[in-house]
Amino acid sequence: MKTVVLAGGFATRLRPLSCSRPKTLFPIVNKPLLQWIFEELAVNDVKEVILAVNTLTQFHIRQQKLPKYGLKIKYAIDPPKMPLGTAGPIKNTEKIVGHDEPFVVLNGDILTSINYKQLMDTHIKTKALATIALCEVDDPCRYGVAELEKGNRIKSFIEKPAKGQAPTNFINAGAYILSPKVFDYIPRGKQCSIEREVFPLLAKEQKLFGHMFNGLWMDIGKPEEYLLTNKIILDRLISANKIKIFKNVKAEMPVAIDRHVGIGKKTVVGPYAVLGKNVVIGDNVQICNSVVFPDAKIGDNTTVSGAIIGEGAIVGKNVQVNNGCIIADQAKIGDNVNLIEDFAVCPAKEVSETILKRNIIC
Ligand code: GTP
Repeated sequence: MKTVVLAGGFATRLRPLSCSRPKTLFPIVNKPLLQWIFEELAVNDVKEVILAVNTLTQFHIRQQKLPKYGLKIKYAIDPPKMPLGTAGPIKNTEKIVGHDEPFVVLNGDILTSINYKQLMDTHIKTKALATIALCEVDDPCRYGVAELEKGNRIKSFIEKPAKGQAPTNFINAGAYILSPKVFDYIPRGKQCSIEREVFPLLAKEQKLFGHMFNGLWMDIGKPEEYLLTNKIILDRLISANKIKIFKNVKAEMPVAIDRHVGIGKKTVVGPYAVLGKNVVIGDNVQICNSVVFPDAKIGDNTTVSGAIIGEGAIVGKNVQVNNGCIIADQAKIGDNVNLIEDFAVCPAKEVSETILKRNIIC
């Protein structure tokens, strides 16, 4: 099976953390999301992965030197200054993918345990042109929603329906099988949306099918979803006994602590804290429900709760970093600062006084 991974979007909802890294490289429990995706694809018998990206994303991915788990990795690059949307980049892979057999397409911002072989079996059995992996959610309005009829044919596909207008709770999980014929539905070198332009047309022509699945499915598109994904993976790793317990750290499990992390006296880590490589934490710090990216420093007597601290960021002493705060890469928070909930600081910016208004410092 060949798989196209779409990973060239702007990740606007994850700003300011996505100003300096693509969404697909956000760490999930200290491992880039794309590495989790490679691992999952390799165990699903995928042999070749085509990363549909822009040049900047390609640069970031290459720099990471991720393990490939035996996969052959190729790139299909969007034209300069012209993002192609979610269908245009698929057309851009036409020469690499070829016309011999159906292939998998996967959003590069989801973590899922979909069984691609089963998805492919459904696709072949129904003679569909496209088969979407569907999962059931409580609030479908933020997603693409499928209305199903007999034999799992998708009668209509509606992207982000208005509140109360969703025909079902079955949503596009961001993974699908396409037959090469679908290339004919996408214009070359133009921006095109698979969800808004291609799927509705295929549904009308009765060539679009759905495949329900119940396994793990997480979308990291928004900061709260990103934190939740880390939490769920921490829970899974602890149940599988795959989390290292550190003897000299006061940890309320589950927590994950990467290599070369320094932790001061009386500091309590967790529950649900992820500390990246080379992080340094002072004395008497409380840190829970948070992710700290590599090389960040947190000063004595500081509290971090429900927040994300970017790579190389420096948080001073006696600081309160409250729920929903995002401190981007290399940003600096001075001593004795209290950051109100949902406050965001852009890369390399400094905050030296307490912030009481919800805002973003750019
Ligand atoms: P937001 O700006 O926060 O909505 O994120 P996004 O546009 O990056 O992601 P969205 O969920 O809309 O896109 C789904 C997947 O398609 C993600 O994995 C994106 O990286 C990818 N994607 C979106 N737009 C493009 C594009 O123009 N080119 C390429 N190559 N991939 C894209």
